[in-house]
Amino acid sequence: MKLSTLGWLFAGAVVVASAASAADGQAVYDANCAMCHKMMKPKTGDKAAWAPLVAQGVDTLTATTIKGKGMMPAKGGHANLSDADVKAAVQYMVDKSK
Ligand code: HEC
Repeated sequence: MKLSTLGWLFAGAVVVASAASAADGQAVYDANCAMCHKMMKPKTGDKAAWAPLVAQGVDTLTATTIKGKGMMPAKGGHANLSDADVKAAVQYMVDKSK
C-alpha cells in the first residue's frame, strides 16, 4: 500500500519534471492549481463560473494565468512551470468545467 503510493508520487514527480515537452495537464493541475481551484472561484467543474472563461479560449486563459490575475499570482505562484505546463493545466480545467 505505502510502496504503491510512493511509486505513484514518484511517477507524478517525473511527469512534472519532464513536462516541458509533453505536459500532463492533470498532474500539473493536481500539484499546482488544485489547492486553490478546488475551493475558490472559478472552481474547477463549476460550469456557470467557467462558461464566460471557456468562451475566451484556452490560449487567452493561459496568457492570463501566466501573468496572474487578482488573487492569483503569476503561474499560480509556481514560476518553475513552463508555459506549456500552464497551458496543459488550463486545458484540463476547461475540459472538466464545460
Ligand atoms: C493561490 C491560489 C491560486 C492558485 C495556486 C492558482 N489559481 Fe488560478 N485563480 C485564482 C483566483 C483567486 C482566480 C480568480 C482571479 C480573478 O478573477 O480575480 C483564478 C483564476 C484563474 C483562471 C481564470 C482567469 C480569468 O481570465 O478569469 C484560470 C484559467 C486559472 N486561474 C488557472 C490556474 C492554473 C492553470 C493554475 C495552476 C498553474 C492556477 N490557476 C493556480 C487562484 C489561484
